[in-house]
Amino acid sequence: MSEASVARDPIAQFADWYEHACAAVKPFPHAAAFATATTGGRPSLRMVLLKGFDARGFVFYTNYRSRKGREVAKNARASLLFYWGSLGHQVRIDGRIVKVPPRESDEYFATRPRGSQLSAWASPQSEVTADRAALEQRFTAAAAKYAGRVPRPPYWGGYRLIPEAIEFWQGREDRLHDRLRYRRTRNGRWLIERLAP
Ligand SMILES: Cc1cc2nc3c(=O)[nH]c(=O)nc-3n(C[C@H](O)[C@H](O)[C@H](O)COP(=O)(O)O)c2cc1C
Repeated sequence: MSEASVARDPIAQFADWYEHACAAVKPFPHAAAFATATTGGRPSLRMVLLKGFDARGFVFYTNYRSRKGREVAKNARASLLFYWGSLGHQVRIDGRIVKVPPRESDEYFATRPRGSQLSAWASPQSEVTADRAALEQRFTAAAAKYAGRVPRPPYWGGYRLIPEAIEFWQGREDRLHDRLRYRRTRNGRWLIERLAP
């Protein structure tokens, strides 16, 4: 990977690597670690599944009242990390989180399997819950309440990470790895810089 061979636009470069990952990485090429931090600077991490990306950013879905949701509500700065080991690729994305528009979340929620839709109602994500039975009872209650179409819970939806910097890491011999970081400049252009491995 060199400055001359990569795309000028990091989203195009991501699309290229993502296509390779989807062909080569099993399971879950779309899995990424998502990092948030409290306003006090205490970090936390968890895996999420990428559901889309384009020039506007990288989208995944979750519960807005979860720990991650509470953290991004107060501190929108967050990061996503992809690791595609069999390709020797790592991609890290730093930026700012916004909620996707409700209609976009509705559209995506409607495509989810019924069981996943019901569990969005049944699971107060990140809360302490008495036991497994309590969770299953809430699931059964949601199934009875929504016998037909399951609406999207108002607290469940998408987040979009608007990238400010995207780094592409390619493993190389002797630990002389390639690291190319795209950084958004004030005029909105992307600057490509090589970082030492
Ligand atoms: C491979 C994988 C993919 C996951 N994808 C998602 C996801 O897209 N959305 C989500 O809310 N949780 C997802 N989870 C569960 C999260 O890692 C996490 O347990 C949950 O979101 C609660 O995190 P929080 O308490 O930090 O908010 C996934 C877990 C794994 C292992």
